[in-house]
Amino acid sequence: MYYPFVRKALFQLDPERAHEFTFQQLRRVTGTPLEWLVRQSVPAKPVTCMGLTFKNPLGLAAGLDKNGECIDALGAMGFGAIEIGTVTPRAQPGNDKPRLFRLVTAEGLINRMGFNNLGVDNLVENVKKAHFDGVLGINIGKNKDTPVENGKDDYLICMDKIYPYAGYIAVNISSPNTPGLRSLQYGEALDDLLSAIKNKQQQLADIHHKYVPVAVKIAPDLSEEELIQVADSLLRHNIDGVIATNTTLSRELVQGMPNCDETGGLSGRPLQLKSTEIIRSLSAELKGQIPIIGVGGIDSVIAAREKMAAGASLIQIYSGFIFKGPHLIKDIVTHI
Ligand SMILES: Cc1cc2nc3c(=O)[nH]c(=O)nc-3n(C[C@H](O)[C@H](O)[C@H](O)COP(=O)(O)O)c2cc1C
Repeated sequence: MYYPFVRKALFQLDPERAHEFTFQQLRRVTGTPLEWLVRQSVPAKPVTCMGLTFKNPLGLAAGLDKNGECIDALGAMGFGAIEIGTVTPRAQPGNDKPRLFRLVTAEGLINRMGFNNLGVDNLVENVKKAHFDGVLGINIGKNKDTPVENGKDDYLICMDKIYPYAGYIAVNISSPNTPGLRSLQYGEALDDLLSAIKNKQQQLADIHHKYVPVAVKIAPDLSEEELIQVADSLLRHNIDGVIATNTTLSRELVQGMPNCDETGGLSGRPLQLKSTEIIRSLSAELKGQIPIIGVGGIDSVIAAREKMAAGASLIQIYSGFIFKGPHLIKDIVTHI
């Protein structure tokens, strides 16, 4: 109810400043009795996926809480899952500012953050303090200064550190803002990475006596043929889930709008159809053998239903949460 006013005030600020300000406030309440300020009750709509029980199918997508600083406050808003990260082995500043832009009329965002984060050790300390009763996903990536040929090592370092604390692990090979990262989605590079990740998962499952599922996050900018190859690779390596999709490099639907020429990945409503199409094609290839987590432009109950009708078992939001506010969580979970 009050979010339109909050949004009006926040949208007066530079987008990253608005994010920092909001996170400052959320950090104050997270894990304290003041959490009631952001708490809302949503109905239970349990879903079993990747061997885990989610109290509802709606999760927060990666990138909003990169360091896991506000898990409890975000959890109090009713998400069934929260995906923190992308985290890299070492802290890094990300790209120069400004690096986040609103396309207000299109309800889209363009970002070229570049995995700004405080490193995996810091994230683990934050996770240890959290009490979120939903599923916690941890999204991992490689440092910018790690050559892409050695990128695999960064994912394995992160897995070692986060494994005991993660509900699931998301392997991000689809951010457009780390040079070369998306090349890991193709051919031998993908097979090599997935095989190393599955080996590591098995080793860690034996050590910790628990199996933590691994989901791979893909880009929407894959051709039909590339998508078939990715699906084939995910199946051959017994990957537990696929998150579709990350942001797009396409500007087809935002031509001529302010900020449309900024470099980076476009998210929000202009991504909605494209990501749904990817989910539909992926679902046809995977034939229910690997669950799909659908993300991209979900900003309403209808958009959420479309993602599930296209084949998603779970869904996530990021941009819709910025434009519509926490009430979107309640709306979607109630009516889905
Ligand atoms: C500012 C911003 C930062 C993001 N950072 C990450 C990230 O670190 N890792 C990741 O996997 N996805 C990241 N994403 C992508 C989102 O998780 C999501 O896949 C994408 O925005 C599409 O969903 P949406 O249309 O609901 O925003 C980011 C998105 C935005 C807008």
